[in-house]
Amino acid sequence: MNSNIQKSIFMKRVLSILSATAIATAAFAHPEAGKIIRISTDNTDLILKVGDNGRLYQTYLGPKLLNADDAAGLDWAQYAASDGSVSKRGWEAYSTSGNEDFFEPALGVTHADGNPTTYLYYVDSCETPAEGGVQTNIRLRDDKYPFDVTLHYVAYPKENVIKTWSEIKHQEKKPVTLSSFASAMLYFNEMSYYLTEFSSDWAKEAQMSSQQLQFGKKVIDTKLGSRAAMHTHPFFEIGLNGPVKENSGEVLMGTLGWTGNFRFTFEVDNVGNLRVIPGINPYASNYELKADEVFTTPEFIFTLSYDGSGQGSRNLHDWARKYSLKDGDGSRLTLLNNWENTAFDFDQDILAELMKEAKHLGVDMFLLDDGWFGNKYPRKDDHAGLGDWEVTHDKLPGGIAALVKSANDADVKFGIWIEPEMVNPKSELYEKHPDWVIEQPNRDTYYYRNQLVLDMSNPKVQDYVFDVVDNILTENPEVAYFKWDCNSPITNIYSPYNKDKQGQLYIDHVRGIYNVLKRIKAKYPDVPMMLCSGGGARCDYEALKYFTEFWCSDNTDPVERVYIQWGFSQFFPAKAMAAHVTSWNKNTSVKFRTDVASMCKLGFDIGLKELNADELAYCQQAIANWKHLEPAIMDGEQYRLVSPYESNHAAVEYVDKSKNMGVLFAYNLSPRYKEKLQRVKLQGLDPSKKYRVTEINLMPGTKSKFAQNNKIFSGDYLMKVGLDVFSFAHNTSMVIEISAQ
Ligand code: DGJ
Repeated sequence: MNSNIQKSIFMKRVLSILSATAIATAAFAHPEAGKIIRISTDNTDLILKVGDNGRLYQTYLGPKLLNADDAAGLDWAQYAASDGSVSKRGWEAYSTSGNEDFFEPALGVTHADGNPTTYLYYVDSCETPAEGGVQTNIRLRDDKYPFDVTLHYVAYPKENVIKTWSEIKHQEKKPVTLSSFASAMLYFNEMSYYLTEFSSDWAKEAQMSSQQLQFGKKVIDTKLGSRAAMHTHPFFEIGLNGPVKENSGEVLMGTLGWTGNFRFTFEVDNVGNLRVIPGINPYASNYELKADEVFTTPEFIFTLSYDGSGQGSRNLHDWARKYSLKDGDGSRLTLLNNWENTAFDFDQDILAELMKEAKHLGVDMFLLDDGWFGNKYPRKDDHAGLGDWEVTHDKLPGGIAALVKSANDADVKFGIWIEPEMVNPKSELYEKHPDWVIEQPNRDTYYYRNQLVLDMSNPKVQDYVFDVVDNILTENPEVAYFKWDCNSPITNIYSPYNKDKQGQLYIDHVRGIYNVLKRIKAKYPDVPMMLCSGGGARCDYEALKYFTEFWCSDNTDPVERVYIQWGFSQFFPAKAMAAHVTSWNKNTSVKFRTDVASMCKLGFDIGLKELNADELAYCQQAIANWKHLEPAIMDGEQYRLVSPYESNHAAVEYVDKSKNMGVLFAYNLSPRYKEKLQRVKLQGLDPSKKYRVTEINLMPGTKSKFAQNNKIFSGDYLMKVGLDVFSFAHNTSMVIEISAQ
């Protein structure tokens, strides 16, 4: 008998047993009872097991087990209770509404007949190769309804990352209503749990804070729709048995790939177990799912580190560069932007001059920001013009073509800003297509930054947004870069397009954005793009499949940036994080500002006239140094050595993969009078190699004050003894190149 026939007989048997039996109290074991599904990376095991009742349970998530027997022997009900009273409860891998668990489920469904309960039973599973890892698919099915869930896990062994999502579908006679739809569910049984969250606001992104999780739920969610991560970011850390530490202890680091409303629920139950439920926020989003339609949840990406968050970050950085970020292994363009310099106040000649400045500075590209479009309603400020993506003729009579020519003449590339999902009511687009806009039909309109959000669930709007990029590139194929902004949350939620499905708008809107981004990537795979949302309010790995980097914050005060970049670096490689030197916090030196920006994808947004000759020479040299150090900063390993949250200083080191080249950035933020200065011990070097340590990024005419300047040490020494790089001078920096001899 061939294997397909065998499988189909088996499936029929399973399904008939499932439908004929009240499984929850089954007197006999399910035919697949005891089946083990092991999802493994080099360091971590996630083990699932089919219970006697046929349902799927997590039996383990932690450091990789040495013995297959141990993995198989784990009991699905082992963690449920210490007194045995609810010992059959178990940790259901994808817990559903209406079951005997009584805590927060992953999935809430009201079936076509109004029944609000779902029980999922194991059907089958398979493993397939996936880029960089192994994909496990597990099919589950309700025994009373033709309702299916498939759980997907991709394990990336070398990076110790697991990516998981689920697919929900049914063949019921009428639509079912989904009221919650998590991407996954993970459980932990430890003595204590400490959550680190990343709260945010405009110019205040990625602020880290920690708290112990006690009985009950802690929810981190957003309801902003489009500028979705403005108040909190879609990632978190959980320290197991203690607060998260940089270099030791077990930590779960998780992030959701969703550029819309998200929700993380952390619930400690009656017996002190923790469940983690990441997914789309179901807020105002009861989803009507038709028969055979597949509801695919966003990807939840996580790593478990046993050596603190530093190792967890390096796992994620490697994973992102190899398998997720657009052009993750490619190089990045340094640039000069004009937003902080000119704002809306420019013309063709001014821009042509700035392009020459870009060349003089030594960057690769000039990036034109907001304010270049609109004729009936020119974009003179943020009150008008959004939606009318035609060059303002008065301001730029030669159009984009003339700007591209000026860039060619100056020998730099040319990039351009767009905000294509948005519209100002003062625009021709709004006049022509008021029905393309998310806006209440019968209430006063609430505006955020004087603008409204286009209804991306409408395919015609998707075409229009695609055309914004497509038209620019068709007419000007030399345009080398886009900065894609999104400055408003969804206000006045109501879709004129999908009138009967208002509950789906928050979700379908995001899917509409992805449709457009997919088309752009397919047609223009090599055009780099920066993701921006009034600063860093879009920072998730689904969006970053289409963007080479994101703008971390409009706050470019270097002191604040040390914290903001520290926060984002927990989840993103420096390559994905754009940082510009600007005139925010002029009290700090150009050197300090440049050194902080040099820890990420370096750019400038400052008029060269603001710089004196030494400062300009300094910047030119710093750009050359950054390019030389790209293998370490962009593609190497990052070590966060001294936290600004725990001291009056900060230090971050990057080492290239061959351990031949590294760089140490050290900052004195606000040292106390005569405080004890910490010697900074490096990490990630080859202990047996010899390295020369040299201070770079010195202002012309200044002598290095670095005590060990130009000396040669073993990697062992540098990692055990360390370097004296801190001082008492507030808001100053030192950059040390580390080169193998
Ligand atoms: C918000 C962005 O964060 C800024 O960098 C700039 O592009 C402005 N929008 C332009 O309106």
